[in-house]
Amino acid sequence: MNGYKTELLDLSPLSLERASALIRAGEVVAIPTETVYGLAANALNSEAVKKIFAAKERPADNPLIVHIDRIDALSELAHDIPQAAWDIAETLFPAPLTIILPKKDCIPQVTSGGLDTVGIRMPDNAAAREIITRSGCFLAAPSANRSGYPSPTSAEHVMNDMRGRIPAVVDGGSCRVGVESTVICFEGADIRILRPGFITAEALRSFAAHIIIDETAMKPLADGKEAKSPGMKYKHYSPRADVYVVEGGDEAFVRFMSDKSDKAYALIFDRDEKKYPYRHLCYGDTPAENAEQLFSRLRELDELGADEVYVRAPDSIGIGLAVCNRLLRAAGFRIISAG
Ligand code: TXA
Ligand code: MG
Repeated sequence: MNGYKTELLDLSPLSLERASALIRAGEVVAIPTETVYGLAANALNSEAVKKIFAAKERPADNPLIVHIDRIDALSELAHDIPQAAWDIAETLFPAPLTIILPKKDCIPQVTSGGLDTVGIRMPDNAAAREIITRSGCFLAAPSANRSGYPSPTSAEHVMNDMRGRIPAVVDGGSCRVGVESTVICFEGADIRILRPGFITAEALRSFAAHIIIDETAMKPLADGKEAKSPGMKYKHYSPRADVYVVEGGDEAFVRFMSDKSDKAYALIFDRDEKKYPYRHLCYGDTPAENAEQLFSRLRELDELGADEVYVRAPDSIGIGLAVCNRLLRAAGFRIISAG
């Protein structure tokens, strides 16, 4: 597609300038962030933003997050900004956190997916912020995967999905967080978490009367109900293999796996590896490690030729909520009890 010869750029000033020049020229460049790699273009240039949707094969009604390099950009992009949003920006930004605000007219409809709001975030990654500053524009950037596939957490993942579709990928190494930003909106004195991430409900507690976790964090969108965040209606994060979340203790899990086919793999915690005799990969021990490694492991399982993947999920608290949310979506909400 498009027939680009995709350049792999490093983090040298010359390379960051090259990436920024491409963006200034209305092109799409994949950039590292602390969460996942993003597919970046000038957020205020409709033609450039359309190229993002084309490269990703993303549905047009799914809005893009606008990335900024300074807090006062909020008032250039949004109006009626609640005090809590300013407080959060001043206290937490740069951070793996996206805030939804009423958008100003400078943001084209294609960027906001036709909505009258915009998601804004300041990434906690120096190269990402430098590219924003050097290019002189705010960057619309969804995760740099093909639509529906797990988000990329390395330049290699991006190359696998985007080679030939975009002119350049900036290689910033592995992403520290590994799952996409927490997405929040403001409802009076309350904050609603639309997509859980590394910034937890606990970290937001002091900025709101109540923190509401949207029910789509752990459940599919109910039939006929409109998604507060359009991304929640689409299947997500799915490798080629069928994914299942398995509940129950580790002994029950080993028994459960004993009669599975040789194309079945388990995704387990490092601490359980010694007890586990069958085909498997591990994804760390703590929820932060699980988050960091999850998407990479899902891609590896595809490369191993797994047809079925059975996953042990962490408790759905703190960062564990983000891990469970991504796993349940990858699994299409299929949960099995190991007995
Ligand atoms: O960590 C991240 O957020 C990464 C990096 C690249 O910054 N970006 C990312 O973008 O995950 P994307 O497009 O893959 O996911 C954005 C999510 C989608 O579910 C979208 O529906 C939601 O945020 N979203 C964006 N703008 C919104 C808005 N105005 N109202 C509600 N939801 C919005
Ligand atoms: Mg995405």
